[in-house]
Amino acid sequence: MFMVINTSEIIKQLNWRYATKEFDTSKKLSNEQLELVFESLRLSPSSFGLQAWKFVVVSDQKLKVKLKPHAWNQSQITDASQIVVLCRLENLDKTYVKKYIEHAANTRGVHLENMKGYEQMILGGMKTKSEGEINEWMSKQVYIALGMLMANCAAVGIDACPIEGFDKKKFDEILELKTLGVTSQVVCAVGFRSNNDKYASMKKVRFDKEDIITLK
Ligand SMILES: Cc1cc2nc3c(=O)[nH]c(=O)nc-3n(C[C@H](O)[C@H](O)[C@H](O)COP(=O)(O)O)c2cc1C
Repeated sequence: MFMVINTSEIIKQLNWRYATKEFDTSKKLSNEQLELVFESLRLSPSSFGLQAWKFVVVSDQKLKVKLKPHAWNQSQITDASQIVVLCRLENLDKTYVKKYIEHAANTRGVHLENMKGYEQMILGGMKTKSEGEINEWMSKQVYIALGMLMANCAAVGIDACPIEGFDKKKFDEILELKTLGVTSQVVCAVGFRSNNDKYASMKKVRFDKEDIITLK
């Protein structure tokens, strides 16, 4: 079997990973590590490949301080190297789908005409859903990117904390997300754990494989 990365190393890193509660404020991601963050998000898979998302990466300390009270004062917001705010589009409409199809056609050197069927399939699928269902569907895609981000960070020893405990409206306001046509869904703080974080050494609470994985 062709193996890019050793499987036992990955499992070791998955055990090493934990939702970091206390970050070391003096440690920042390098440019290379930041690039991994960006590419993990950008290369995440999405339904139909639509990528109905944007990711706002906040390094600015003043902004982080402004956001913190709207995230239950969780220290990760100000202490992590960056906080990534994962957003979905405010509205997924025909224009966006058309833009995506044009981009796909250009990228692959395919005539737009040959992509019409695919475009109609996407639009047809969207027609069967309510606005609320489409928004929820976009939100699910964003969580896939969150998973990719956390797994890749763990693989290279970057700590992370997924954060749902925040006021979306306030984050949208402070980060002026309307101007980007998006709305926040979930946050991920990235950086490096503090030596004082007692959570780092706590045993992982997980059900046994037999309880959650069914082999047929
Ligand atoms: C979508 C999501 C949202 C979460 N929100 C928060 C949060 O707001 N604050 C926090 O400290 N941990 C948050 N967590 C972390 C979980 O509590 C943690 O992942 C879980 O207890 C398992 O522990 P572990 O990740 O350390 O293995 C969140 C996790 C996920 C997946």
